[in-house]
Amino acid sequence: AVAGDLGANERPLEVALAGLKRLEYRGYDSAGVALVGPGRDVAAFAKKSGKLDNLVGEIALHPLPPATAAIGHTRWATHGGPTDTNAHPHLADGDRLAVIHNGIIENFSALRQALTASGVEFLSETDTEVAAQLLAREYRTTGDLTAAMAATARQLDGTFTLLAVHADDPTTVVGARHDSPLVVGLGEGENFLGSDVAAFVEHTKEALELGQDQIVTITPDAVTVTDFAGNPAEGKRFTVDWDAAAAEKGGFDSFMDKEIHDQPHAVADTLLGRTDAAGRIILDDLRIDEAVLRSVDKIIVIACGTAAYAGHVAKYAIEHWCRIPVEVELAHEFRYRDPIVDERTLVVAISQSGETMDTLMAVRHAREQGAKVLAIVNTNGSTIPRESDAVLYTHAGPEIAVASTKAFLAQITAAYILGLYLAQLRGNKFPDEVAQLFDELRDMSRKVQTVIERGEYVRATARSMEAADKVLFLGRHVGYPVAMEGALKLKELAYIHAEGFAAGELKHGPIALIDEGQPVFVVVPSPRGRDQLHSKVVSNIQEIRARGARTLVIAEDGDDEVRKYADEIFWIPQAPSLLQPLLAVVPLQIFAMALAGAKGLDVDQPRNLAKSVTVE
Ligand code: G6P
Repeated sequence: AVAGDLGANERPLEVALAGLKRLEYRGYDSAGVALVGPGRDVAAFAKKSGKLDNLVGEIALHPLPPATAAIGHTRWATHGGPTDTNAHPHLADGDRLAVIHNGIIENFSALRQALTASGVEFLSETDTEVAAQLLAREYRTTGDLTAAMAATARQLDGTFTLLAVHADDPTTVVGARHDSPLVVGLGEGENFLGSDVAAFVEHTKEALELGQDQIVTITPDAVTVTDFAGNPAEGKRFTVDWDAAAAEKGGFDSFMDKEIHDQPHAVADTLLGRTDAAGRIILDDLRIDEAVLRSVDKIIVIACGTAAYAGHVAKYAIEHWCRIPVEVELAHEFRYRDPIVDERTLVVAISQSGETMDTLMAVRHAREQGAKVLAIVNTNGSTIPRESDAVLYTHAGPEIAVASTKAFLAQITAAYILGLYLAQLRGNKFPDEVAQLFDELRDMSRKVQTVIERGEYVRATARSMEAADKVLFLGRHVGYPVAMEGALKLKELAYIHAEGFAAGELKHGPIALIDEGQPVFVVVPSPRGRDQLHSKVVSNIQEIRARGARTLVIAEDGDDEVRKYADEIFWIPQAPSLLQPLLAVVPLQIFAMALAGAKGLDVDQPRNLAKSVTVE
C-alpha cells in the first residue's frame, strides 16, 4: 500500500503493482488492487483469479483512474476458492471502503451470521469480507478509519493483517496487525506498507517494524502507531541492508537459478564478521545470559520444510561438537503435543522468512514453557526474531523462488556457527579448534562454486529423465537429510513422487520399491572419513543395482571405489564429512530445477505452494 501527496496520479497504482510483483512468491491464486483519489466518491478496484499477470491484463483492458493511495494483495486461498469474487480487495460501505487481509479470521462464521442478521449481504465466501463489513459498520459509528480499524481488530479472533482505504480520506491507508506480518516503508512525501520490505525497497530502505496488536495509519507525511485500545505505540526503526537489485533475476532464467548461483555468497556472507578480536564468536542479538547457555542440557530445533532439513543436518554437528542432545521436530508437531521443555532447554527456530505461522506458534509455546529461543532467520524485521531471545541472521539476501535453495545453505552455516559458539562457551572446544573449523567453513563457499560450475552435466541428465514418475534418494548420517531435501525439491518443482530414505533402512522396506530402471540418487560419504560410512553406502548401492536400479551417485572427487557402481556420477570437491551437505545438496537442487524446466513448469512458483505460509 502507498499514500502519496502529489495529487492524483498513476504512481500509487504503479507502486502497488510493482510491490505485488515482488511479493507474488507469497501466494499467487489471485490478485487485486483498490485506489482512492480526491473528488471520487467510491474506491476504484480490479481483481482477478490466477497470477498477477491476469490482473495486469485486466487493468490494461479497463484502466483505473489516477489516485493518491492504493492497496494491493496477492492471495493464497484459505476460505473460499481462488475465484475473481473471492480475490481481495473486498468492498463495503457502498464501494467506498476497500479492505485486504492476510491470515485467517477464526470467528468469521459467527460474525458473518450476526452481520447477515442485521441485513448485510455478502458477495464472497471469504473471511476477509466479514472484516470489511465489520469495519464499515464501525466507520459509520466513529467516522474515523483509524478508530474503526481498532474497534474491528478488537472483535476479531485468529491471525490478521488488514489494510483499508476509504474514499472519504483519499491520502490515508490504515493497517492492523495481529500475528501476521506488516512493515512500514518511510519515504519522502509518501509512505508504504508491505508484508515484507521487498514490497517497497526500490522506493525506500528506511523501515519501521511494527509490534503485535498495533494499528498503523499512514498519510503522505506521517506514520502513526497505536495499540488496539487506541493508546500511542511505537515501531522499531531499521534500515534494509540489501538492494532492490538483489530481488531481481539479474539475467538468469528464473529466481531459483539465480539463487542457486548466489549460494557461495550466502555461505560466505553468513560467516562474515562472526568473530571478535579474541577469536570469540558473536551472535547478532543475544538476550540470553551466557550462564544460562552454559547450563543448557537439551536443544530442540523447530522448523518446517527445507528449514527443518537444515536442522537435521545441524543435529549431527552440534551433538558432535557440544555433546548436548539435539532433537529436531517439525514446528506444527512440536506445538500440539506435550513436549518436555524447561529452562534448561534451548529451542532453535529456523526460518527463512521469519514469518512461518507454524514455527511462530511453536516459538511462543516453547517460551511459555520456560525455554530460551534462539532464531536462525533470513529476513530482517520479521516476527520470529522479534519474539525470540536471541537471533543469528543468515545473510543469504532475499530469497524469492518458492523452493528454498540458498537459505538452506545459509541455515546450515548459521547452525554450525551456533554449534561452534556453544562448544566454545561450554569449553568443549578451544578458540584455536573453533578457528580451524571456521576456516574450513569459509572454504566451503569456493567449493560450492565449483559444484555449480559442474552443473551442466546434472542438467543434461535431468533433461533425459523427463518421463520419470518416481525417484528415490538415499543417504546416511548427514547425507540422510540431504536425501530428504533432494526429494522435497523434486516434489515441489517437478511434481514427481520422490522420497528420501536413510540408506541403512533400505533393506527394512523401501528396497521393495526397486525394479528395473528405477532412478535412485545416492549421496556417498567421504571415503576419507574415519568411520565405516563409505563402505556401507557402497554396499547399499550394490544392493539396489542388483535389483535393477539406475544409480545416480553424488561422490567426492577421487572416490574410485564408487565409480564402478554408478550409472551417472556427479562429482563434488572433497570436504570434511560434516560439511559435505553444503556441497551434496547442490546437484539435487539443479536436478529438480532442470527437470521441472524440461517439463515446462514454473520453477519459481510451483502450483499450490506459497513461500511464506502465514497461516497455521
Ligand atoms: C514453505 C515453503 C518452503 C519452506 C517452508 C518453511 O512451506 O514452501 O520452501 O521451506 O515454508 O519456510 P521458512 O520461511 O520458515 O523457512
